[in-house]
Amino acid sequence: MTETVTLTIDNQEITVPEGTTILGAAAELGIDIPVICYHPHLTANGLCRICSVDAGQRVQVAACVTACQDGMEIETNNTAVQRGRRTNLELLSSTVNLEEAPEILELVETYQANGKRFPNSHKRTAPIYDDNPFYIRDYNQCVNCWRCVQVCADDAQYAFALSFDGRGFHTQIGTFMADGMMDTTCVFCGQCVGVCPTGALKPKRQSLLEDGVDPDAIFQQTRGGRKKKGTQS
Ligand code: SF4
Ligand code: FES
Repeated sequence: MTETVTLTIDNQEITVPEGTTILGAAAELGIDIPVICYHPHLTANGLCRICSVDAGQRVQVAACVTACQDGMEIETNNTAVQRGRRTNLELLSSTVNLEEAPEILELVETYQANGKRFPNSHKRTAPIYDDNPFYIRDYNQCVNCWRCVQVCADDAQYAFALSFDGRGFHTQIGTFMADGMMDTTCVFCGQCVGVCPTGALKPKRQSLLEDGVDPDAIFQQTRGGRKKKGTQS
């Protein structure tokens, strides 16, 4: 028989099977907790911390990876939680180009995050990789959510073409030995592009269309893998 645990979330009692995450239990109650790195079809890694909630402990816990426990009293949107989310979004806005991340921009609006709160900050800069006929990688827009890595690995494709590159502030997604994508184990399934929450991974055809390139020329480029101007392999 499945063991269950009973807790309250925003003063509503709920009983769920042991192992259910706070995010999952909240969803059952119709309570929406914001997420960035979490994706329902991928392994949760608890990286972005935007889903942090108050469980009455010394520090807030990430709802997407924390299992419900008997007797927990969770608050998902109190003042401390809101302040934490605002600061998280302010840090993100100050270091990453979020122009093509509509869901994150909506959170910035909701939590009234001030992207200019840290005047001495600077955006992370990275080359734009246009090294294959199918998609472009612009890690200036990457929030390091790890979704693309997960979907490329044992959550779906088992290609393991993506990993990380760099250290600390300069950590970004990359390929083994920084190889161009054509030299990796990538099978160009497109699943990484599909799960990316920002404009960091974009179909090449979309990118060229946005640049006003003629559809016939796009057909040629995306068949032959020719590069866009200003990008590198
Ligand atoms: S490229 Fe996209 S999916 Fe991959 S880590 Fe960056 S933001 Fe996430
Ligand atoms: S959504 Fe939970 S840590 Fe990112």
